[in-house]
Formats: sequence, structure tokens, C-alpha cells
Amino acid sequence: MDYLSEFEDNYFDIAIVDPPYFSGPEKRRYYGRKNSPIGVKRLYEELSEWEVPAKEYFDELLRISKNQIIFGVNYFDYPFGPGRIVWDKVNGRSSFSDCELAYCSLHDSTRLFRYMWNGMMQGKSISEGHIQQGNKKLNEIRIHPTQKPINLYRLLVQKYAKKGDKILDTHVGSASSLIAFEEAGFEYVGFEKDPIMFEKAKKRLEEYKRKSFELISLFEVEEVEE
Ligand SMILES: C[S@@+](CC[C@H](N)C(=O)[O-])C[C@H]1O[C@@H](n2cnc3c(N)ncnc32)[C@H](O)[C@@H]1O
Repeated sequence: MDYLSEFEDNYFDIAIVDPPYFSGPEKRRYYGRKNSPIGVKRLYEELSEWEVPAKEYFDELLRISKNQIIFGVNYFDYPFGPGRIVWDKVNGRSSFSDCELAYCSLHDSTRLFRYMWNGMMQGKSISEGHIQQGNKKLNEIRIHPTQKPINLYRLLVQKYAKKGDKILDTHVGSASSLIAFEEAGFEYVGFEKDPIMFEKAKKRLEEYKRKSFELISLFEVEEVEE
């Protein structure tokens, strides 16, 4: 909230945010029991306590951004407009939620996006998100207990952002959002309060930038050789 107050009205073209909707992180036993019977390290053990954002946060978000996509809309007591995005996680019989809901200020209708996200079972691509990625080695590595897939954010920017937009994510978590913003060439600002998660997310984003740079360099060398 301290930093958001520094931005002028409508500074960002779009805010794509995923705030926590329960105080925790372990209040809900999100990733099972704290002590795994087989010694698996629980992701949430490292995360610090967080708070569910209050009305003031949403007021401020709407002040500094022209448009918003806000995940967890069904958990927040705030008078959002009618537009909704439904992310169907194609998660079969998992006991986790089948879908996540976001408020979207860019339309009044409800739009559906299917992308498998259930433990090791992940979607193949944006267009074939309902089909499981056959090669587990290509799965996205998870560093955060409530990490969303990069492909979800890729789709959101493809559909809802336009060239030159400035994008805000106030609750970065694993940086899946920032990777998609970076890749599409947007100017962006991200916040993450937890210091350990901040470092992990920064490392993930930097690794992504380095790999993209290596790919571009390889491509340029091949072009020269031809
Ligand atoms: C639901 S998670 C976001 C997950 C993210 N969308 C992803 O794909 O990884 C919410 C994140 O917000 C962070 N957080 C909680 N309160 C915050 C605050 N006041 N400012 C910034 N980050 C905060 C938590 O540490 C957590 O990493």
C-alpha cells in the first residue's frame, strides 16, 4: 500500500493480480500436513504470514490502473463489476478447486480458459490446455504453493493487453506473471512481500531472461552462418 500510493491515477494500463484470499499460508493446510510422512519439504514452510487485502487495497488498485484482472474475486467482499474469467484447471478428481475465478473489467461477460494444472499433470499448450503435456521434463517447475502457470498469464496478455501497455502485479509469488509480461515485451512493475519468495521469483525471472537471451543469440548466429 505504501508503494502503490506513489503512482498517479491510471498510471498502469492493466493490473493483473492474484492476492491471497485466506490469511496463512498454512491456515488451510494448503500443501497437506506440515510434516510430510516421507520427508518432502513443504513449500509453505518457508513463507511468512500474509493478510487478505482490505477494501482500501482494491480502491487503490482501481485508482492507479485503467483496467483490472483480479483472481480470487469470489472470496473478496468488494463491489466488482460483472465481467469474469473462469480458469478451468482440468484437474479431474482432485480435491482442490476445479476452477479459479477472476474479475475482469474489460468485458461484462464470462470467459472460460482451460489449462490443466494438477500436480505433475500440466497442460500441453495454450490452445491444447485440456490435453496433458506428454513429456514431464517439459513441465513448469513449481516454486510456490499457489503458483499459476505462465501459459495462463500468456493468454491473458494476448487477449487483454495491447502493445505499449504498462502492467502491474501486486502479488507476484513465483513470477509466472512477470515472465509472461517480459516475454511479450511489456513494461511492468511487480511486488512480492515475502523476502524468500522475492529472491526465488527474481532468480526464476532472471534465469528465464538468460535462457531467452541465449536462444536469441543462437538464432542470430545461425542466421549469419546461412
Ligand atoms: C496467491 S499468491 C500469488 C501467486 C502467483 N500468482 C503465482 O503464480 O505464483 C500471493 C502472494 O502474495 C504475497 N503477498 C502477500 N501479501 C502481500 C503484500 N502485502 N504485498 C506484496 N505481496 C504480498 C505472498 O507472499 C504470496 O507470494
